[in-house]
Amino acid sequence: MKKQFYLLAVLSLFCTALPAQKLNISTPNTSLVLEAPQGGELKFLYYGNKLSASDLNDLTNSGNASFSAYPVYGMNCPSETALSVKHGDGNMSLQMEVVKSETKNEDKAVITTVHLKDKVYPFYVDVCYKAYQDVDIIETWTEIKHEEKKPVVLNQFSSAYLPIRRGNVWLSSLYGSWANEGRLAQEPLEPGMKVIKNKDGVRNSHTAHAEVMFSLDGQPRENTGSTIGAALCYTGNYKLRIDTDDSEYHHFFAGINEDNSTYNLKKSEVFRTPELALTYSDEGLSGTSRNFHRWARLHKLAHGNVERKILLNSWEGVYFDINQAGMDQMMGDIASMGGELFVMDDGWFGDKYKRNSDNSSLGDWVVDTTKLPDGIEGLLRDAKKHNIKFGIWIEPEMSNTTSELYEKHPEWILKAPQRDPVLGRGGTQVVLDLGNPAVQDFIFKIVDDLMTKYPKIDYIKWDANMAIMNHGSNYLTADNQSHMYIEFHRGFEKVCQRIREKYPDLTIQACASGGGRANYGYLPYFDEFWVSDNTDALQRIYMQWGTSYFFPAIAMASHISAAPNHQTFRTIPLKYRIDVAMSGRLGMEIQPKNMTDEEKELCKKAIADYKMIRPIVQFGDIYRLVSPYDRLGVASLMYTSEAKDKAVFYWWRTEHFVNEHLPRVKMAGLKADAVYRVRELNRIDNEPLPFEDKSFSGSYLMTNGLEIPYNHKVDYHKQNDYSSRILYLEEVTISK
Ligand code: DGJ
Repeated sequence: MKKQFYLLAVLSLFCTALPAQKLNISTPNTSLVLEAPQGGELKFLYYGNKLSASDLNDLTNSGNASFSAYPVYGMNCPSETALSVKHGDGNMSLQMEVVKSETKNEDKAVITTVHLKDKVYPFYVDVCYKAYQDVDIIETWTEIKHEEKKPVVLNQFSSAYLPIRRGNVWLSSLYGSWANEGRLAQEPLEPGMKVIKNKDGVRNSHTAHAEVMFSLDGQPRENTGSTIGAALCYTGNYKLRIDTDDSEYHHFFAGINEDNSTYNLKKSEVFRTPELALTYSDEGLSGTSRNFHRWARLHKLAHGNVERKILLNSWEGVYFDINQAGMDQMMGDIASMGGELFVMDDGWFGDKYKRNSDNSSLGDWVVDTTKLPDGIEGLLRDAKKHNIKFGIWIEPEMSNTTSELYEKHPEWILKAPQRDPVLGRGGTQVVLDLGNPAVQDFIFKIVDDLMTKYPKIDYIKWDANMAIMNHGSNYLTADNQSHMYIEFHRGFEKVCQRIREKYPDLTIQACASGGGRANYGYLPYFDEFWVSDNTDALQRIYMQWGTSYFFPAIAMASHISAAPNHQTFRTIPLKYRIDVAMSGRLGMEIQPKNMTDEEKELCKKAIADYKMIRPIVQFGDIYRLVSPYDRLGVASLMYTSEAKDKAVFYWWRTEHFVNEHLPRVKMAGLKADAVYRVRELNRIDNEPLPFEDKSFSGSYLMTNGLEIPYNHKVDYHKQNDYSSRILYLEEVTISK
């Protein structure tokens, strides 16, 4: 601890020892350098590998590469800007000058704040940088304030701006839709404006994602090449803009989506923009992912250092058909396979209106005693009997027009005055007005009541199944209706903070019609997210591949489900379904009573093996090896332990054609000189692989790779068109 403080003190000394106007914001392996001349403009100088003292000293702006670190509108109108406002007197321009900069140490980070003031108006912007000292991430955001008499209208308020030198720069980003989240798109940055945005209001990652990577030196490569990663940490609507204009740079802006959200900033009020997390790696896309993952586990994810339990979730097994005996049977089954937690999904609540389908009862969080006569007590009793933990589903931000809540509080829903609400799921769903403190109290109480009455509840699945379809808040004044989206998310965060203060140990999953809430704005309050409602193993390879760019396996809920799959109707053998689910946070989403004894046995063995590899998968470093998007017929990735003495290698065939040639996959991330013994997990073949229990050097595995048989050697009637392998590698000492 002492050593840490000493290090931070030395680092900040190092900062102040530089020529007065240069700011070096650095992490263990990266530097972001700014020029901050007092009375002048704050300028961006450099972002990349850590600079030596002499390079730092001699670094200057050169040629036309001189850009403001936070461009504002009004004195250089043609350029894209991060901030644009209308002052109380109608003036639409800003001219920001550096007043001073400060650094302070906070936990494992150094925070640098550059205070800017408009040359004429009492209008202030603090540009803030939080540089972690244990991981290569710099978070940046702004705090905007004024002392003008009348409110200032914020028309544009990005969190950050970063110029990126042109020269065959490629963008990697995620896109998709419900049941097809996390699809990877890779494209060269061409002249013009690339905009990635979200306007759902509630869930912000079904479609595009608020995270991107820039490959700076040509086509994206997984394990080599200079790469910048950026992740906007926000729960609401966002907008990322990349403007490729006539300059030598691409101009990257990220922040809240201002569409229909202009903000009236009162005198002395501080408007804090969400953080943009930046990282840089010269180890390609996978290296950039490793930085994000480490940061997530250390700082950004609830309980990032705690192993996740292996669970069975009831949804695809029984849907709304919840009852005491059924829950008991599922608990018994998951316990007998070695699982550690059972989660009862939708369908357990409602009194006047019973939740038998998706068209009623949200808001009425009381047990449906016709389904569960012994209530939650009965379920907790059964969980105890089976020696597992119990979790429960809720969807707190929502109501249905067929609910007692709506009958009592119709004014709590988001809706424009004079208009009938547009309704969502089930033809009756509505979104509550989380900007309203009374609604915030109500939502906090849903969790508080459950946890007070049943402190043994171990896990909550927090769902959100509707977008904001209606612009209108009964709580906000007519003047401030454009604050609706922002206030919704402020309210949401306030509730999450209260819950986390009171229930720090509770495990909470962020689910939002599947993967609608995979964003670092949510994750400080949530332990994980449901990647997608689509549990088809083949499609999951693509979705989990993309999602792994930014999010660690420990946060990616990945469940073994039934065949044929309920979303794609594809029939995939159990072995393959298990092998895909075991590359994330393993769980099950199935009715075990429909499984054969042989299938249950396979799952039992897989669960036991997952417990052994769990620390490597959940805390290890990812190396993506062959991308499913490259259409080479196979996809492969691996995780290594931090000490690189253990690793898990995954290989999934993604196509099946006879005599198709698949690449031999070279491993990565191992110690070249170490020797690793190879063991196959989840083996179904009649005989072991030729290299089973054999040992190979890290160097051989990384330059040559192992020859994986294309198909499984199983009895004729068991043959099918899928094959997959999981190899467990452990360092061994070879006696000479
Ligand atoms: C959507 C979620 O993504 C599903 O997993 C399930 O919880 C349903 N909602 C329940 O209504």
